[in-house]
Amino acid sequence: MLPPSPIIDRCKTGVLAPLAFLAGTKLDVFSELSEGRRTANELAEAMSIDPDWIRPLLFALAASGLLVHADGKFRNSDEADHFLVRGKPHFIGDIGKLFEDLWRGAFLAAESVKAGKPLAAHDYNEMSDDAVNEFFIGQHPDALLTGLKLADTIDFSGARHLVDVGGGSGGLAIALCERNPSLRGTVVELPAVARVATEYMAASRAGDRLNAIDRDLLVSPLAGRYDVAVMRSLLQVLGPADCHTMLRNVRPGLAAGATLYIIGQIVDDDRLHPENVALFDLVFLSFYKQGRVHSEAETRNWLMATGYTDIRREITNNGLNMVTARVPS
Ligand SMILES: C[S@@+](CC[C@H](N)C(=O)[O-])C[C@H]1O[C@@H](n2cnc3c(N)ncnc32)[C@H](O)[C@@H]1O
Repeated sequence: MLPPSPIIDRCKTGVLAPLAFLAGTKLDVFSELSEGRRTANELAEAMSIDPDWIRPLLFALAASGLLVHADGKFRNSDEADHFLVRGKPHFIGDIGKLFEDLWRGAFLAAESVKAGKPLAAHDYNEMSDDAVNEFFIGQHPDALLTGLKLADTIDFSGARHLVDVGGGSGGLAIALCERNPSLRGTVVELPAVARVATEYMAASRAGDRLNAIDRDLLVSPLAGRYDVAVMRSLLQVLGPADCHTMLRNVRPGLAAGATLYIIGQIVDDDRLHPENVALFDLVFLSFYKQGRVHSEAETRNWLMATGYTDIRREITNNGLNMVTARVPS
């Protein structure tokens, strides 16, 4: 008798639900359905698309749970209606652009492994302005969402000046400053990215309390006296030696007693859990020469070696994978 093959069976089709999500966001299906229930024909007419071509996608989205189908009509699920309708406050539909980029990297994993180099290299020092702009269209909503989750998790009302280290477009700093009216935020970034951060921050509701500084933190240390620091998806773009240098160079800019929140793809010490984090190295192999999913123990060791204390790892109920550390008082 043939042995069961549940893992292979799952692999054969598991990729398709995310791709339905991607197609739905690219076509803005969820925004089109924001007015309420519609048949495939009604939706196709509104979108000037042939109904025979959109109908299969609508059923795929309904099968995956992003749409609901009843009585011949489709509507957004509550989740899709909250997060995927353009113009709503928590719209993250453009996140599809980020994942399209990430998945393209993952598709090249075998070739990158064979070549011994990243075949879809993301070098933030070398990226053209257009490539940086394109990258952050997808990354920014994800960073904003993480900032909102962090604001839901940690009380920053007593903090004065936050530094978002390698903060990209400043999404995290923006979300935290918008939630905390007395908080100032500074993004420290490589020059091409600091320019993008300045634009995003100027357009935010907390624009007058936000700024960007361009600095390569592997070359020179952070200056200042920030009382809180966030570092999201930064260590994973660096190899182990650079992670150590980065944490050492950030420390001089943090006041005694300051807290550092490292958020990103941090894997348990068995390197297997959480599964979605362990799998992320497929992307990083194609993106970075040395950037990888790093483990909790590696992160702890760099922090201890560079003088941080009270190191704690947690995965919060709202999905933040976070290591917290403090500068000794
Ligand atoms: C994956 S992105 C994450 C951006 C942002 N933290 C976010 O969550 O959207 C990594 C960022 O680290 C920045 N970075 C990498 N090396 C850096 C360095 N040596 N100094 C400052 N920033 C750096 C890159 O420019 C890039 O914007």
